[in-house]
Amino acid sequence: MRDFKIYDDHHQVVRTKCQEFEEPIKEENIQLLKDMCEYLKLSQDDEYASKHNLRPGVGLACPQIGISKRGFAVYLEDEKTTYKFGLINPKIIRTSVKKCYLGSGEGCLSVNASHPGYVMRYNKVVIEGFEVFQNRKVTITAYGYLAICIQHEYDHLDGILFYDHIDKKEPFKIEENAIKIA
Ligand code: NI
Repeated sequence: MRDFKIYDDHHQVVRTKCQEFEEPIKEENIQLLKDMCEYLKLSQDDEYASKHNLRPGVGLACPQIGISKRGFAVYLEDEKTTYKFGLINPKIIRTSVKKCYLGSGEGCLSVNASHPGYVMRYNKVVIEGFEVFQNRKVTITAYGYLAICIQHEYDHLDGILFYDHIDKKEPFKIEENAIKIA
């Protein structure tokens, strides 16, 4: 497994808007995103993670490993499906009116401090980008938890962290009609 140094929010790279990957996408960059996916998968394996001192994660964006480029990986298993993809130069092209939020709040491999509060996200997003396992441009429609993950990772590409969205005065404020996930 390729090991990655995770940069936290004290590093400027995590707070900087990323540049697009050069197109056509180079093989080494495709492999990078595949390796990031593998890293996430292994981070969710309790035994492996404790042995290698990894925090479990479902998403990882390039700036979090010190690369200021627009790409992120997701590895997420639920009862029915495994969502595994790496997107290069993604764009969110549609969002729902309806919002949602994680009842336990969000976490991030680049954030070590506790930031209690709710992050309001769109309940549905449509995102397009070059997907590394399919080796072509794809469009992904996501709802609920997956949509939250995608928005969290997409934010990283603009140097934005989840706690930037938490209302300072009223951190547990819920937007009207927002649905609670998990
Ligand atoms: Ni994060």
